[in-house]
Amino acid sequence: MKIVSTVAEVRKYVKEAKKQDKTVGLVPTMGYLHEGHGSLITKARETTDFVVVSIFVNPMQFGPTEDLESYPRDLDKDAAFCESLGADLIFHPEPSEMYHEGFSSFVDMTVLTEELCGLSRPVHFRGVCTVVNKLFNIVTPDYAFFGQKDAQQLAVIKHMVDDLNMDIKIVGCPIVREEDGLAKSSRNTYLSADERKAALILSKSIKLGNETFAAGEKNAKVIIDKMTELINSEPLAKIDYVKIVDRLTMQQIETVDRPALLAIAVYIGKTRLIDNCYLD
Ligand code: PAJ
Repeated sequence: MKIVSTVAEVRKYVKEAKKQDKTVGLVPTMGYLHEGHGSLITKARETTDFVVVSIFVNPMQFGPTEDLESYPRDLDKDAAFCESLGADLIFHPEPSEMYHEGFSSFVDMTVLTEELCGLSRPVHFRGVCTVVNKLFNIVTPDYAFFGQKDAQQLAVIKHMVDDLNMDIKIVGCPIVREEDGLAKSSRNTYLSADERKAALILSKSIKLGNETFAAGEKNAKVIIDKMTELINSEPLAKIDYVKIVDRLTMQQIETVDRPALLAIAVYIGKTRLIDNCYLD
């Protein structure tokens, strides 16, 4: 496995792989890797011949009051993890390699970014779309792998690829959870022992919402109210949003009569965590 930090080096190795008729898979990440990321790398390994993992804490997708500075980083551990899963190349650029002086082009998306995390984090998806676009142009993958953990991001990327005629297959992978149900996240490291226990309220409320729907409830408000009550019973939890949206448009719906997404964002202390499930 190679670790490179420049666009030119990535291009060189990808060109060599393509010359040998290898298919290329990309797993974009911000590092501090866990088994959630691992599931994407494994899927990429099964699906493609040459697996590139990008590790880049993208400043553009963080708001001014967010955790860019404190976001956890550990390249050595990440590299060992990628190697153990059979990745071929890690791309770990400095911000200056991705955003040179005078950088002024962006990829923006309307509609799908208006709700959920797009509403709470106004600059977030512009940063995500722009950096993923750049990574696609740098790596030129045949396949790219994204987690359902960030369900809105997955929908946005699929939509971008379709809108802009990118010749890349987007593969969505299921949420990987801790044994007790908490969705794995690099941000879980921020939690104190008490907060870690309190954070279980996210997966518990998602389970409650899913079960309520499965029992026949189609009224979004009824499902959301039940979940809200449960989350509010946890003193360390503060709701950012609990919403049910159309799976394709990411717009809120009142009746769950089409493929939908149940998504929540909850602060546990100062840490903002997300979770979701599809309602079919
Ligand atoms: P990051 O949060 O590091 O996540 C990288 C990928 O791992 C995303 O596709 C995310 O959905 C997936 N992932 C994270 N936790 C997961 C879990 N518990 N189960 C399954 N998949 C999981 O998402 C980003 O980085 C950035 O926005 C990025 C796309 C790299 C652009 O900067």
